[in-house]
Amino acid sequence: MARHRLAVAPLRRRLDIEAPYPASPVDLPAPDLPAVDAFVAAERPTEPLHCLRPRLIQATARRFLAAFPGEVMYAVKCNPEPRVLRALWAGGVRQFDCASPAEVALVRQMFGASAEIRYMHPVKARPAIRDAFRLHHVRDFALDSTEELAKIRDEARHERRPTRGGIGLHVRLALPKGDAFYDLSGKFGAPAELAASLLAEARPHAERLGLCFHVGSQTMEPAAYRNALDLAKTVIERSRVAVDVIDVGGGFPVAYPGLTPPPLEAYVAAIADGVAALGRPGIRLWAEPGRALVAPGVSVVVQVQLRRGDALYVNDGIYGSLSDAGAPGFKFPARLLRPDGASGTAKAFALFGPTCDSVDRMQGPFLLPDDVREGDYIEIGQLGAYGGALRTSFNGFDRAQLVEVGDRPLIATPGYPEE
Ligand SMILES: Cc1ncc(COP(=O)(O)O)c(C=O)c1O
Repeated sequence: MARHRLAVAPLRRRLDIEAPYPASPVDLPAPDLPAVDAFVAAERPTEPLHCLRPRLIQATARRFLAAFPGEVMYAVKCNPEPRVLRALWAGGVRQFDCASPAEVALVRQMFGASAEIRYMHPVKARPAIRDAFRLHHVRDFALDSTEELAKIRDEARHERRPTRGGIGLHVRLALPKGDAFYDLSGKFGAPAELAASLLAEARPHAERLGLCFHVGSQTMEPAAYRNALDLAKTVIERSRVAVDVIDVGGGFPVAYPGLTPPPLEAYVAAIADGVAALGRPGIRLWAEPGRALVAPGVSVVVQVQLRRGDALYVNDGIYGSLSDAGAPGFKFPARLLRPDGASGTAKAFALFGPTCDSVDRMQGPFLLPDDVREGDYIEIGQLGAYGGALRTSFNGFDRAQLVEVGDRPLIATPGYPEE
């Protein structure tokens, strides 16, 4: 029996998570998941249908964990859907980069004490730090200012007893703007000089002292990590203190149409070189991937409501799961679902979303048979990262369904099926 339900944003609804997931090795339930085509033919969904591939997410996580020579925390913001988190857990993920009280509570509620949660947002409200520390046993926090260091020192402690396990303090280093698809250099991070003095200032208060950075999301150049690690080396030397952890953040890319990144192994090699050049044997290496773990694992089936020439009006858009297809201009793989088989030669279409805003437009191109018409279903792939997580309720279009399916991804994904 297909399991599906409303795909409301998991952080806004009361959780219906069953028992906390066991810490021992687990496999995913329901090996006989339905296929997208059969499910759509039977249900004829009139709302966007999120098709989650748990086994693919599990395999992708396994592959990343096997390839990366350090600790891998999943960046929960990328997709906090509990079924995604569960599939990652089944793939071996036990560490989580959280950035909000809701993410911290979700992960703790789902996995109990077996999950290691690190609060890697460099600017936090005092109650958020306090609750993370006292209620959810978070011990590692990021910062990029003296003021944030003071907040963490004030709030992340017990009144009368020392903290078991000690506190981890991780200084976020600002990087120059790179050529990642999503530049993340503009908001967080201490410039090198300040980062060095923050390391020195934090050292006496940290059981684990770390330096972290983010090269930008969907980084196509492995050298970006090597360059960042070279800057990290300078900062560590300037600080004149011992650093225990180097955290290379997220940014690991996935394939989109016309955009094939270098293999993960090239990124791992660049990182290994950069870490070796730090000259700090024994330093712990962490990463915070989001996109690379979950992007291939979710597709969204939309329905055509009107065709106007080369434009299709569909029931999901930039205020829904397709925001990256709007202004950021990501191209996504698409295929037409028709019970009697798709026909017609491939043609480039643009999509319009369901809201009344004229920016609710996705240029694509989405390559589909040239006879697409009203009522047709289109499956759009690679939407597991920053797709469902960015949905809004603008114009009342906040409803969607979610189903777990057994299909392959729309774009070949390394590690699946596992060799
Ligand atoms: C601090 C931090 N870590 C990790 C990530 C995940 O990045 P990605 O999805 O590019 O791997 C992000 C994304 O914004 C982030 O801000």
